Amino acid sequence: MAKNASGAIIPPFNQLNGKVRVPLHRQVYQRVKNAILDGSLVPGARLPSARTLASDSGVSRNTTEIAFAQLEAEGFVERRVGAGSFVAASMPDFVRKPLHARAAKTSTNNVNNSLSERGRKIKAAAASNPTAKQPFAPCMPSLDAFPLQTWNRLTARRARLSGRDFLGSDDPAGYRPLREAVAEYLSAARGVKCDWRQIVIVSGTQQALTLATQLLSDAGDEAWFEEPGYLGARAVLQNAEARIVPVPVDEQGLNVELGIKLAPAARFVYITPSHQSPLGVTMSLARRLALLAWAEGAGAWIFEDDYDSEFRYTGRPFAAVQGLDSAGRVIYAGSFNKVMFPSLRLAYIVVPPHLVDAFVAARALSTGDAPTLAQSVMTDFITEGHFSSHLRQMRALYHERRDILLDAVARELTDRLRVEAADAGMQVAGLLDKDTDDQKISTQAAARECRVSPLSGYYLLDRYRRPGLILNYAGTPPETIRRTVRTLATII
Ligand SMILES: Cc1ncc(COP(=O)(O)O)c(C=O)c1O
Repeated sequence: MAKNASGAIIPPFNQLNGKVRVPLHRQVYQRVKNAILDGSLVPGARLPSARTLASDSGVSRNTTEIAFAQLEAEGFVERRVGAGSFVAASMPDFVRKPLHARAAKTSTNNVNNSLSERGRKIKAAAASNPTAKQPFAPCMPSLDAFPLQTWNRLTARRARLSGRDFLGSDDPAGYRPLREAVAEYLSAARGVKCDWRQIVIVSGTQQALTLATQLLSDAGDEAWFEEPGYLGARAVLQNAEARIVPVPVDEQGLNVELGIKLAPAARFVYITPSHQSPLGVTMSLARRLALLAWAEGAGAWIFEDDYDSEFRYTGRPFAAVQGLDSAGRVIYAGSFNKVMFPSLRLAYIVVPPHLVDAFVAARALSTGDAPTLAQSVMTDFITEGHFSSHLRQMRALYHERRDILLDAVARELTDRLRVEAADAGMQVAGLLDKDTDDQKISTQAAARECRVSPLSGYYLLDRYRRPGLILNYAGTPPETIRRTVRTLATII
């Protein structure tokens, strides 16, 4: 093993491998560089000569010369005529050890200490992304049934015709034809009252809520939140440092009367009225009207997350709360990410006219506009009728899957898992007996590749907490639904 004058040791090169594709000089270069980066060779340390290193390592002098020349060119090594080669006294920033390699050595404690309080909460709220292959994976549509050929054809056509037009950025409010198409769709299908100028295209409901909380609530403001409620939205409100007031949900949706008692001067309300997440109930008309009347009087903002309202299997769909609002208190949000496919990252907000500029400014500041190509293809998908026919097909498919699920649950889990509201959406919540540990069931199910979320985790307060399981059936094929319910039955 070669030693330098100051006693530092050059790692042995006897494992240089002449058979691999990496040339020997590159292997020598890499070993010396690694020794410098991991601190075995300290700045200023003298290196053995290229000749000594060559004979110690059993390679030609030419090999070590090439390696040294490369190390010198990159600033790792300084060669002084007559004095020898040295590890560079100061390392330029770009040659420092790659961050990910250092991070591996950093303990969780150190990571947490280096994060802000907000950063720690964000990190704690992170959930792993579901994959399409996991039965009942949350928020997963049926990707198998997506009309991929049509989408690819429209994408190819746009890419061919648009040329350089799409290379620059567009309006941060969104691609105008898409805003127009969304406004038309929402007024026809969801009873939303809006002009296309009120539509702001964003990347997801998550971003819509982030912008709304940034613009409309300050740290410490009270925010009503459905109890139990959607975890993604809860994380956004926590991040905005809102004082979350859990307001219980019953069979009529959010209990507005109780909300008014608990926090009459709240500034912000998050609701999922068409299909409450996670319980699945629909908010009654009386509650909708009571909420609007209170919001108008209190000067509060209602954030209406109209997630999965496209899928209703019994009765007529309820129009959006936004359509009933005559005081301009509702921020309405909908998403294409689940009715189309999760990687699309396109959603929309409808904001009262006087707030449009503020939302567009916040949107521009956060991520700039959405990719124009994707927006234009989405526009064609809607205006050429593919969107409505896709919705019709998915409604029929999810209806069938819901029936298969309810049937399997009734057969395999009679009385042990009680599904109460299943008229709409892509998932159902099933209630378990009072003392059941739903977290444990969820963990055991995950070990068998089944993603069921424990209902208890959606509650903030112990006095309301109920155990149960969330089953997202939309993306799970019939046979897998039946098999997975049998698996769940053995676990429960
Ligand atoms: C209640 C609710 N809102 C919104 C979304 C969709 O959010 P995004 O558009 O950010 O993907 C989901 C699921 O992903 C959800 O469960």
